[in-house]
Amino acid sequence: MILSIESSCDDSSIAVTEIATKKLIHHSKISQEVEHSFYGGVVPELASRLHAVALPKILEGTLPYLDKLKAIAVTNQPGLSVTLNEGLMMAKTIASLKKLPIIPVHHLKAHIYSLFIEKEAITPLLVLLISGGHTQIIRVQSFEHMEILATSIDDSVGESFDKCAKMMGLGYPGGPIIEKLALSGDEHRFDLPIPLRNSPLIAFSLSGLKNAIRLQVLALGGADEMSEQDRRDLAASFQRAVKLHLLQKSKKVFAKEHIKNFAIVGGASANLYLRNAYEILCKEFDKTLLVAPLEYCSDNAAMVGRYAIEAYHQKQLSDPHKISVQRSKKQQNGTLL
Ligand code: KG4
Ligand code: ZN
Repeated sequence: MILSIESSCDDSSIAVTEIATKKLIHHSKISQEVEHSFYGGVVPELASRLHAVALPKILEGTLPYLDKLKAIAVTNQPGLSVTLNEGLMMAKTIASLKKLPIIPVHHLKAHIYSLFIEKEAITPLLVLLISGGHTQIIRVQSFEHMEILATSIDDSVGESFDKCAKMMGLGYPGGPIIEKLALSGDEHRFDLPIPLRNSPLIAFSLSGLKNAIRLQVLALGGADEMSEQDRRDLAASFQRAVKLHLLQKSKKVFAKEHIKNFAIVGGASANLYLRNAYEILCKEFDKTLLVAPLEYCSDNAAMVGRYAIEAYHQKQLSDPHKISVQRSKKQQNGTLL
């Protein structure tokens, strides 16, 4: 079995996965959304302290499996370095005590493997990754060959939901709040700009749309003066603009890449309005849409464990003393490192 640990942002999660069957034997997670909602976003130092309390607590549930472990998997990039460190310290301690190797896991690759929890992986595959930290289209040729075809030049999709929610005086995380409000809103009320609409660039950009929301909130008298219906309509109009932007750029990729399977992963892939739009797009382009179960869209250790099974077979094992948090630079198009 492999014990996997995830602490790249504000979710502390630990899982145990059986190598031979790929079965998820145990999974637990403690989210810090309530603690961060007061600040309208994740506060790294607070997140780190909360991981230090939560990780040992949820580790207890894995005690029955500790003697059956072959490796400890842990997310070591990309993410908040202070929170990654909490998971890494725990992984190193267990690995040293039990004399086990560590499997370092790239968080974005783990999100891709959220599609294959308790399943065989399907490749080749085109993936739209929409999380709090990233927006990318990735060509997954195989476990070893993943290439970024398009990326955001500024904010990510999840981040834009969070920031817009904050500007409208809503809580954190903004994604689920905006999605819910939008259900009873008029998505055509506000004429918001569709990012890079007239640009041939195959890239994403959300900061201009964020600014348009800021100006609209001001025009409505500020977050405190907006009516409930204003909030609903603005949430719906914002979500529509994000959808149209994602679809437009995805179509440009579809025109060049003829891989049949297309997937959406990451926290924002839990958004049913976006999922629905991609179902229609995939039918139009004769693609098969893959999505992860809703519970595995946001950060979790089950996807880390699933990725780690492949890494284990590829012998990507490290000495616990030699592993550290990888400080990854903002990645442009090219090999997903
Ligand atoms: O993948 P994730 O858990 O963490 C990162 O790797 O960043 O993604 C978290 C992001 C947050 O920005 C959150 O607002 C967004 O995913 N999110 C959503 C929804 N649920 C979570 N965005 C839009 N609609 C949702 N339903
Ligand atoms: Zn994530």
